Amino acid sequence: MAAITQPFDRSPSPVPPDPVMFGATRAMQVVRERVHKIAGANLPVLILGESGTGKDIIARMIHHLSAWSNGPWVKVNCPAIPGTLLESELFGYEKGAFTGAYANKPGRVELANRGTLFLDEISELDYSLQSKLLQVLQDGQFCRIGAQEDKKVEVRMVCATNRNLEREVEIGHFRQDLFYRINVVNIQMPPLRDRAADIPVMVQYFLRIYSERYNSRVHPLSPQLLTQLQRYHWPGNIRELENLMRRYAILGAEEAITSELLPRKQDLFYDDIQVDGPISLKKVTRQAVLELERKIILKVLQANHWNRKRAARALSISYRALLYKIRDVGLPAARGRGRADAHAPPPPPPPA
Ligand SMILES: Nc1ncnc2c1ncn2[C@@H]1O[C@H](COP(=O)(O)OP(=O)(O)OP(=O)(O)O)[C@@H](O)[C@H]1O
Ligand SMILES: [Mg+2]
Repeated sequence: MAAITQPFDRSPSPVPPDPVMFGATRAMQVVRERVHKIAGANLPVLILGESGTGKDIIARMIHHLSAWSNGPWVKVNCPAIPGTLLESELFGYEKGAFTGAYANKPGRVELANRGTLFLDEISELDYSLQSKLLQVLQDGQFCRIGAQEDKKVEVRMVCATNRNLEREVEIGHFRQDLFYRINVVNIQMPPLRDRAADIPVMVQYFLRIYSERYNSRVHPLSPQLLTQLQRYHWPGNIRELENLMRRYAILGAEEAITSELLPRKQDLFYDDIQVDGPISLKKVTRQAVLELERKIILKVLQANHWNRKRAARALSISYRALLYKIRDVGLPAARGRGRADAHAPPPPPPPA
């Protein structure tokens, strides 16, 4: 069985200093209070929030503040491990359980004993694995694949998702009993657009980190740009801000940032229309439709971790039709590939 190392993070990196981490906005003070209140109690925690709002970092912080902070920190990025491997990665197996199982192997649940098991993107867990996880939460027991007996563990479970889990329960993708178990305490991470007052401190922090890392000397941002950043809607949240500051530390020019600030979605088509010459309504409308389709498909693909079958189902179109659309709107054929792949050979023609 192939070893998987990438989604298995066992050494939590340090978290930013408190004033950067929590800033001064009310929503983050609520997060800080909650983290400090619950970190010491061995209760499951569910961290919710848009992508890039700091869910990972809060999970690590909970581990640092927990009674088992010297114990293992085991992170599992659920969608990064193919479904068939996830069970053996999580629960381990006994020698001879299946072809290729040459020795006993503990799973990550077991490795997290007396430490923290962080299940990232928990909504991506298969229904059958959800039941096994429920058992761990209910009585601390689980069974390695191929084992005759259950084993016992003591783990602190922290889960995170950027999905609406209640909705996943409603549509039958997520077990209600597991939802109640993992949601004993939840922490809602605010989007960065609701933390405008915290942006200057974060900007300073990231600029210091990245100018040291790249050995560059950059001027502090102008007050005008800082105001612009505080008014921006931050679709990618803190990750987007961090990337912009990294770029500024390397390039040293404010234009490198302003050119990256995306317009709000509703402004996109309107601002693109040139009225200083003849307009083809048909052409403009077609372009707008394509652009909208591109955005919707991209969003759904991202939400489904680039699983195109699931994305097609979510969009209520056939798998083949989705492959065509992906090509037509100029999206890459799979996650992480460049746009050039959009010109890969087309899929077979869709049914008439
Ligand atoms: N409060 C913070 N102060 C400084 N940096 C932060 C803060 N929160 C997050 N970051 C940084 O922003 C980036 C994104 O954070 P993180 O990975 O925790 O987000 P996330 O919510 O887990 O995102 P995703 O849903 O995509 O997994 C990381 O590089 C992290 O170090
Ligand atoms: Mg994360």
